[in-house]
Amino acid sequence: TIKACLFDLDGVIVDTAIYHYKAWRRLANSLGFDFTEHDNEKLKGVSRVRSLELILSWGGVSKTTEEQELLATQKNEWYVEMISHMTPAEILPGAKQFVEDCRAAGLKTALGSASKNSMTILEKINMVNLFDAIIDGTKVSKAKPDPEVFLKGAEELGVKPEECVVFEDAIAGIEAAIAGGMKSVGIGSPDVLGKANLVVSGLSEMTLDKLEDVGK
Ligand code: BG6
Ligand code: MG
Repeated sequence: TIKACLFDLDGVIVDTAIYHYKAWRRLANSLGFDFTEHDNEKLKGVSRVRSLELILSWGGVSKTTEEQELLATQKNEWYVEMISHMTPAEILPGAKQFVEDCRAAGLKTALGSASKNSMTILEKINMVNLFDAIIDGTKVSKAKPDPEVFLKGAEELGVKPEECVVFEDAIAGIEAAIAGGMKSVGIGSPDVLGKANLVVSGLSEMTLDKLEDVGK
């Protein structure tokens, strides 16, 4: 039986992908090249450091480790400025309701995100208190598809991996759930997230009945 739901943040609870994209694009432009929204898909769920490596490779630009640190910091300053204006209106449709439904049904809830800015965002959208555990980029050393972020969540909740369902918009996140021995629900397109136990277009489509089916 399912005892807990673990939620990714970017792309599942809020659509911050557009802010990440704007900030990374500004950085690429400052280095003299550009990249598309299609390329941006490859950055979803990927850590800050790894995202920069990918973007630099697309631009055919090489930088020293020290330079890369400065560039990642610059991007994050622009990103933080953008998310500082976020409000609860930016919660994706149905997301808050479904987390509340889970809690009302007696299930535990956790956040499992690669982002070091998770707490800032949760505070801005007023959802800090809806999670029994918050595991973010400041608490993990191995990025998705490594299951560390979700295994730590299960541990903090006091549940077994097989009692958890992970909600993810990134293929790396679905792979992390599978590697951790958890069930998963993909948020997005079945073409991309076919490995998940169920795929829905958004949490507004999710119900406790569907969750029960995933647990079977
Ligand atoms: C993930 C996003 O949730 O967090 C990635 O999907 C992002 O795009 C990663 O790079 C790290 O985020 P941050 O806020 O620590 O730079
Ligand atoms: Mg995501």
